[in-house]
Amino acid sequence: MACKKTAKVADKAVKKNVKVKNQLPTKNARLIAWVNEIKKLCQPKNVVWCDGSKKQYQETCDLMVKSGAFVKLNPKKRPGCYLVRSHWSDVARVEDRTYIAAKTREAAGPNNNWIEPDGLKETMRNLYKGCMKGRTLYVIPFSMGPLGAPVAKIGIEITDSPYVVVNMMIMTRVGNKVLKELGEHGEFIPCLHSVGAPLKPGQKDVMWPCAPLEKKYIAHFPEDGAIWSFGSGYGGNALLGKKCLALRIASYLAKQEGWMAEHMLILKLTSPEKKSYYVCAAFPSACGKTNLAMMEPTLPGWTVETLGDDIAWLRIGEDGRLYAINPEYGFFGVAPGTSYASNPNAMRSIKKNTIFTNCALTDDGDIWWEEMDGEPPAHAIDWKGNDWTPDMRDKDGKKIKAAHPNARFTAPASQCPVIAKEWEDPAGVPIDAFLFGGRRPHTIPLVNEAFDWTHGVFMGSAAGSETTAANLGAVGVVRRDPMAMLPFCGYNMGDYLTHWLSMGLRTDPKKLPKVFFVNWFRKTDDGKWLWPGFGENSRVLKWICERIEGTAKFKETPIGYMPTESAIDLNGCDVSKQDMKELLSVDLEGWKKELEGVFESWKPFGNRMPYALKAKLAEIQARLESAK
Ligand code: OXD
Ligand code: MN
Repeated sequence: MACKKTAKVADKAVKKNVKVKNQLPTKNARLIAWVNEIKKLCQPKNVVWCDGSKKQYQETCDLMVKSGAFVKLNPKKRPGCYLVRSHWSDVARVEDRTYIAAKTREAAGPNNNWIEPDGLKETMRNLYKGCMKGRTLYVIPFSMGPLGAPVAKIGIEITDSPYVVVNMMIMTRVGNKVLKELGEHGEFIPCLHSVGAPLKPGQKDVMWPCAPLEKKYIAHFPEDGAIWSFGSGYGGNALLGKKCLALRIASYLAKQEGWMAEHMLILKLTSPEKKSYYVCAAFPSACGKTNLAMMEPTLPGWTVETLGDDIAWLRIGEDGRLYAINPEYGFFGVAPGTSYASNPNAMRSIKKNTIFTNCALTDDGDIWWEEMDGEPPAHAIDWKGNDWTPDMRDKDGKKIKAAHPNARFTAPASQCPVIAKEWEDPAGVPIDAFLFGGRRPHTIPLVNEAFDWTHGVFMGSAAGSETTAANLGAVGVVRRDPMAMLPFCGYNMGDYLTHWLSMGLRTDPKKLPKVFFVNWFRKTDDGKWLWPGFGENSRVLKWICERIEGTAKFKETPIGYMPTESAIDLNGCDVSKQDMKELLSVDLEGWKKELEGVFESWKPFGNRMPYALKAKLAEIQARLESAK
């Protein structure tokens, strides 16, 4: 659709916004100066301040429908929902173009792409020069965390993407209420974003403007507390509150300020006796984090409610316990694989007011993706906008996917039918247990509890998944992803593990959450799943609650405390005794190799690796050696 049309609609929207023309919605001098500086640099056609109103959200969606970038879905099927298709080259986070521009390479650590900050700023300033020509510059004031929460942080994203505006309005708390909280002198994290596609006068816009890969930069300046993103409009590259602020910059701030910013879901588990427990869990990608966060337990009388599916910010409360908040306001979930079978509560959360990116469009104006319930549609429009039928094959004979594997839904968290009532409590919820895990077909048992905090940190540092044919590189290799933070830790991972250890010294160890390593993904030698997973995982969660209460049957093993063979409630579940034995045994030889693998994965961090973890590894090695 012609850009002239888009520009006209934008002009109209701006004219309506009297506040913008006559008076700025803030008196914060630093913010006004920054917006002016960026306006001068990027040379947009006009400026819109996001007030966070439903009206503005709707006007921005309408603008995108008019430009052709958004497809309005059938309101009888998906009221208030839109589909958008990205450029084929801009479909995921670009880790190779994601940088931590710390003052020194050592501070960023081998876990990050380090780049010298002054040089990068110069390169990026040149890219930003005039980059918003012909486009609207949006100012998005947002809060990560409930407004006024002790660890909430205010960010201001400047972007030239209306797609980013509406997604940010779902994923974070946006608008005038944030400016009010910021006040005249408040601090904010400046987050600058441009799709990097200026328009010449009269130039026709494209549906998904973005820059080529070599011009994309997702840059973090931890010491300045700033984020500069250029060239991509997709997900974590562009919605800067999420991975960039709430994890990379926040993890750096958390270390300075004595709290934790983690890549963790938060769930509330309630027993038939109505006792509630709060759990945070970290898993590498593709381990079903969103599924666990919204799980429907199969165990009668138990319920799971959700507080968050991706990020947790934790601080020690006045009572010495660790309290977590979810800094986000929505879910940005992977669509393919989500179904009523795998995650009914996610399916219910996306029935309305949801933005779908890179999903397929059905002939009746609804969306579809691979592994959604039921038969695939006989015909659809795929994520690239082409006709699609289920029998279509590529030149190698592989099925052509209707949805991109990283297709997403953006939905308000409040729409989740099992959202916990306390999910917006600024004080957060006291965490009883941390879970770490990964896809580990061999060796790692179903559940294993750490002996102490240091052992728990050791467990987190050893998290990772075995590579499959779906990953690039060798099959069957464990890719370590400590605390699932490898792509998201804004500084040296060795220092990050030291910070985790230090959290254990800030309070009475008895008040810290117990730490568990879980593995839902064990397989037999002939490749069959040993554990049914999904809602059946509630059986493992029940044992964890019993450990918290001190009532569980357990045994001490060389690698941690584990359930005895009869300790996990299998009533109504058909896992055989033999399989249970396998799931709960300690493979001594396998574990010796496992520890070698863990040690190997620490090597790049050299002497930044905390000694206490090396000592813990040696201790477990000795336990394994002396076990019969
Ligand atoms: C996500 C991720 O999208 O972890 O949440 O990659
Ligand atoms: Mn994530």
